[in-house]
Amino acid sequence: MILNQQQKAQADVRELVARFGRDRSALLPVLQELQKRHGAIQDFDMQVVADELGLHPAEVYGVVSFYAFLHHEPRGRFQILLCRTISCDLAGTARVARQLENELGIPFGGTSRDGRFSLEWASCLGLCDQGPAILVNGTVYTRVGPETVHTIIEDCRKVFGAHAAQPAHAAV
Ligand code: FES
Repeated sequence: MILNQQQKAQADVRELVARFGRDRSALLPVLQELQKRHGAIQDFDMQVVADELGLHPAEVYGVVSFYAFLHHEPRGRFQILLCRTISCDLAGTARVARQLENELGIPFGGTSRDGRFSLEWASCLGLCDQGPAILVNGTVYTRVGPETVHTIIEDCRKVFGAHAAQPAHAAV
C-alpha cells in the first residue's frame, strides 16, 4: 500500500508514541525523531503529534519554534549554527558570521539552493569561555575564527565530491 504524506506522518507518529510514551515528556523526542525522518516538522506533522499526545497544536508549534534544532522547513545537509550570545559575541561572532556568509554565499536564515548548507543563529551552546562557538550537524567547534570557518566548510564540501568547491547560492 502506498501512503500519502499525511498517512505516513500518522503512521510515524503512532510508532514514535508507542516508543516514547503518550505523556508530555515524549513531545521533544517524538519531534526530534520525526524531523530526522521527514527533514522538517511541517504543519500536518504538528497536528498529528498534538492529536496523538492530547496537546493543543499551538503548544507543539511553540516547542518547534523555540528550539533552534527543530525546523518547520527542510534545512541543508549541513546545518551550521553560530552562537550569538554575549560571551561569543564579545569574542568575535560578527567576524565569524561575515566569513560564513561569504564562504557559503547565503545569509543567516538561508539554505543554499543546492540543499547543501543552512546557516542559522543559535543561543548559548554552553562553551562560553571558548567562543566563538559553532555547531555543525551536532559537532561543536570552539574558538572559531575566519580561517577555521574556511577549513570547516571545506571539510563539509569534501562529502559532496569533486564539484564541491563551487559557491552555493542563496535561497532564503
Ligand atoms: S555564549 Fe556562546 S557558547 Fe555560551
